[in-house]
Amino acid sequence: MDNLKKLLHESNYTVIFTGAGMSTESNLPDFRSASIGLWNKFDPSKLATIDAMKNNREEFREFYTMRMKAIQNTKPHIGHHILATWEKNGLIKSIITQNVDGFHQQAGNKKVVELHGTLRHCHCHLCGKIYCNERFINNETKCKCGGFIRPSVVLFGENLPEEALEMAEKETKKSDLFIVLGSSLQVSPANYFPSIAKRNGARLVIVNMEPTPLDDQADIVIHHRKIGDVLKELNQRN
Ligand code: APR
Repeated sequence: MDNLKKLLHESNYTVIFTGAGMSTESNLPDFRSASIGLWNKFDPSKLATIDAMKNNREEFREFYTMRMKAIQNTKPHIGHHILATWEKNGLIKSIITQNVDGFHQQAGNKKVVELHGTLRHCHCHLCGKIYCNERFINNETKCKCGGFIRPSVVLFGENLPEEALEMAEKETKKSDLFIVLGSSLQVSPANYFPSIAKRNGARLVIVNMEPTPLDDQADIVIHHRKIGDVLKELNQRN
């Protein structure tokens, strides 16, 4: 940890990369943890794909309604607030996140790249018009144009938002320290960014409860510790 604290304070351009493990301490489940992972209980191919949205619409709507309500009933934890303070103090420059809960922005971070969209609002699948989640939760899913109002998350098989990809690549290549917090790094193209940072000369740090496929590329790996505790320890003055 002393080595990581030193890297953090010596770095000129630190970028944070977060996954669902960043929000489990806010009581939101992640996807692949053995104990709480959503994909251990639900089949993503039947719920989180364009095909599911078209041909399994009732279960699709129930699944995303459950996730929208879960986000409404919880909030960022101390780890999110520490990252917001670090951005204010210039210690970190940006966050690239796979998460759709909006907790980084809610905690106060300004420069946040959402690779997988957001569960904070919906949009019409046909014309792109933005709608609030209440329309979806109340099953009022028909847009004025006739299209289907769906959550603004990236579904499996959909392309990631071009602007987010470009911004993520730009931030990754500017980083001299790239810190992964709470991701199994199993989903592409999001999991390319830690390797791009490393190849581009940045130091790579992975903080994750369980091992990841990129651990051997990392300069520092911290397993079996909660992200909240790691960030609190790093945030101590001495
Ligand atoms: N502290 C540290 N690590 C944690 C904590 C915690 N408090 N809680 C969970 N983790 C770790 C788990 O061990 C797991 O390896 O976070 C990791 C989360 O991995 P996933 O559940 O696979 O989530 P993520 O990597 O964000 O998934 C990527 O997959 O299903 C898609 O779109 C979805 O954005 C998601 C993408």
